[in-house]
Amino acid sequence: MNTYTLMISCLIVSGAVVMLCSIRQFKSNIQLLKAFYICKKKKLSWMISLHLTMMGFFFCGYIAFLYFFLNKVDLGLELITGLIFFFGAIFVFMSNIIHRGMLLTIQESYDHSVSIGVALEEERKKLLTTNHQLLQTEDVTILVLAYQAELRDGETGGHINRSSEYVSLIARQLITDSCYAAYLSEEYIRDLVKSAPLHDIGKVGVPDLILQKKGPFTPQEFEIMKQHCRHGADIICKAREKLTFRSFLELAAQLTLCHHEKWDGSGYPSGLAGEAIPLSARIMALADVYDALRTERCYKEAFSHEKACRIILEERGRHFDPEIVDAFFAVEKEFEQISIEQADTSQAA
Ligand SMILES: [Fe+2]
Repeated sequence: MNTYTLMISCLIVSGAVVMLCSIRQFKSNIQLLKAFYICKKKKLSWMISLHLTMMGFFFCGYIAFLYFFLNKVDLGLELITGLIFFFGAIFVFMSNIIHRGMLLTIQESYDHSVSIGVALEEERKKLLTTNHQLLQTEDVTILVLAYQAELRDGETGGHINRSSEYVSLIARQLITDSCYAAYLSEEYIRDLVKSAPLHDIGKVGVPDLILQKKGPFTPQEFEIMKQHCRHGADIICKAREKLTFRSFLELAAQLTLCHHEKWDGSGYPSGLAGEAIPLSARIMALADVYDALRTERCYKEAFSHEKACRIILEERGRHFDPEIVDAFFAVEKEFEQISIEQADTSQAA
């Protein structure tokens, strides 16, 4: 084999290797397009099959040409070269068509994805708005229900708002510095604040004669009054049974049932003591009592903030959980501010 023949052979073999690599790369691209579901068009699939066939012809022609050249078989070198160039030209032409088809398919898929993205974003905004409106409706419904019970008691609704804020203040302080920090979470506080207005909802089950009595209760009347905790829990449990998911009503039922329990076990309705009383009810108890102390009632005037603080301190470890009393004293200035800013009418100086 002379140098000329060797050089031609090397060129033909190199061409065949490049062709093989091209076929392999082409197949890999097609698989990638199929994996992304952007190569589904029938026309494009047909073109790809034809393209592969053309590549096969071109490759076979190439190998045949190499064989004939090396063995010096004269079958019409011009004819073979012409055929190879013919199939090569078709191969290149079809490559362009197929690549254009692929790019158009990708463009369509991209446009489709963008339009889906825009539609999803609009849907997400609508859902967020609806969710916000539902939450607002839920809050208003809770306040209206709670206000209904308060109205019968001669209250103006201020007690509901203030006690919710007091509950929030204590819970946030407990999360900052107390042994309950690990137990409390933002979700728990949210449910707690939402539940607070419902703590006296059971008063709707107490007769007006007792609820609106100006003087002290007789023992029998007090027993009936005590029932407002169970009435409230029953009302909330009835609502909870209608739901198919866990809601704040679980916590609301606990808080409503136990907000008159005392740390030393002398409270009602069950005489629970210490940590047997749900934490939510222990927090509510202090918030409820502070507001009662700071508000004018038919049987007493509104106490000053200092007097309310003294009474709460005396009840540390008796009526109230010591840890919650400590949390109260860490934020007592905020309590005073709320009691003044949100006083019902010329009360709580
Ligand atoms: Fe109560």
